[in-house]
Amino acid sequence: MASPFYVTTPLYYPNAAPHIGSTYTTVCADTFMRYHRAAGEETLFLTGTDEYGEKMVESAAAEGLEPKQFVDRMAARFQEIWGEIGIQYDRFIRTTDADHDRAVQHLWQTIYDRGEVEFRDYTGHYCVGCERYLIERELEQGKCPQHQTEPEIRSESNYFFRMSAHFEWLISQLENNPQLITPDRYRNEVLSLLRSGALDDLCISRPRDRLAWGIPIPWDESYVTYVWTDALVNYLTGAGYPDEPAWEERWSGVHHLIGKDILKAHAIFWPTMLHAAGIPLYQALHVHGYWNMDNVKISKSLGNLVDPLIMKEKYGFEAFRYYLLREMSFGLDTDFAEAGLVQRVNADLANDLGNLLNRSVSMLGRYFDGVVPAHEGESPLREVAERVTGDVDRHMRAFRTQRALAALWELVGAANKYIDSEAPWQLAKDPDQRERLATVMAEVLECVRVIAVLLESFLPHASARIIESLGDTPNAGSLAERLRWGELAAGTQTRKIEVLFPRIEVT
Ligand code: MSP
Repeated sequence: MASPFYVTTPLYYPNAAPHIGSTYTTVCADTFMRYHRAAGEETLFLTGTDEYGEKMVESAAAEGLEPKQFVDRMAARFQEIWGEIGIQYDRFIRTTDADHDRAVQHLWQTIYDRGEVEFRDYTGHYCVGCERYLIERELEQGKCPQHQTEPEIRSESNYFFRMSAHFEWLISQLENNPQLITPDRYRNEVLSLLRSGALDDLCISRPRDRLAWGIPIPWDESYVTYVWTDALVNYLTGAGYPDEPAWEERWSGVHHLIGKDILKAHAIFWPTMLHAAGIPLYQALHVHGYWNMDNVKISKSLGNLVDPLIMKEKYGFEAFRYYLLREMSFGLDTDFAEAGLVQRVNADLANDLGNLLNRSVSMLGRYFDGVVPAHEGESPLREVAERVTGDVDRHMRAFRTQRALAALWELVGAANKYIDSEAPWQLAKDPDQRERLATVMAEVLECVRVIAVLLESFLPHASARIIESLGDTPNAGSLAERLRWGELAAGTQTRKIEVLFPRIEVT
């Protein structure tokens, strides 16, 4: 049996509500899940919140709350917002969930029992923002390059995972499997980091008397797990590790989506932890870049956040969703600008797609009372549709929404061009051209249908509305069947719908 398609987002720190960064990854995961689900595969989509660690304790204290009260409130907020923008996750996991506690303890006990953990003294530069010790070489003028703050010098006795013992193995995995980390630039980055000799073992504990807000280390309750060594395990918890018999099968199909700032934890800590526990590696890690504003990363600490609910209110969520999926080339940084969003939405959705839909259904109404005519002839659209269907599939399986949408818009463009060159309004004037007119209109409508089916995982709402206007039922049948050219039967009654994406007027 084929592995299920299991896709994960990072677990977000719930010390601020979702913004463009977390929304982007979550929307991508939702889109990939929907695509694989439509293709008839079993899917599992996991997202959630990362609730332990000093950062949450500090944020809770700032609001006069206990950590648990604080994270309860924020986790509910995340779920509410994902619900409002139509994210269909299977599970919203919280690192404070009881089964996660069990998974973390089981995994670390296994690693410990295999002789991979040591107790040591350590003094180092600790950045609370990163929730980790930074090594000398990472500092820029004595500061954490990400948070622009000076780390604290801390001394502690702690448990260390012998991570460096797995580096040779990890290097060979990365060399032998070019698909393990995508895009390739991040695989190369990890390889050079591993080869540089700058990495050491990993401190996995925090003394409980200093930080009680964490999962106890199972063999020594005077310590809790360091937040990253707990949070990463969520991907296993979500698969049902260690108690559900199906966990291994689910795990065998896992793809992680992350932003580039958490590459090291996912590309080095996580695979070595898995290897030390005797668990197979993930299928792949897909790494995206930053959404910037005026070339600066959009972030909680800088306060230049883009709120998905405000975007929804201003433009409609699917317009924003389209912009996210179409604009960012996966792996590269992208500048967010509302002017760019407006331009993109107006050009692609209001003009190209909107006009195609509007004029094809209107003309069918005018010339054939809205009923799809029987026809004999063919159009060049079928060939384009079949090629684009293949291209979309290839790009989606390579986790590239931008390319998939660019391919899909080639089909939108081809359909518009076909209408322009065939000029049905001219054919309609000549009774001898009735058959030709029937062919042109039926082929155009068929093409609109295929476009709507392909659009489903990207813009589920708009796609369903288009399919309904074509007298069909959304999501009915397998993707392969629905993408077959010629499924729109003669005699189907279509109906006009309201404009899906009104032109955004800039005031
Ligand atoms: N809690 C950790 C992840 C643990 S996963 C086991 C964490 N959380 S976070 O809330 O700070 O960030 C979560 C994700 O949001 C990261 O993938 C990060 O890259 C992404 N983004 C935050 N700001 C971003 C942008 N401006 N642009 C794109 N994504 C960015 O790290």
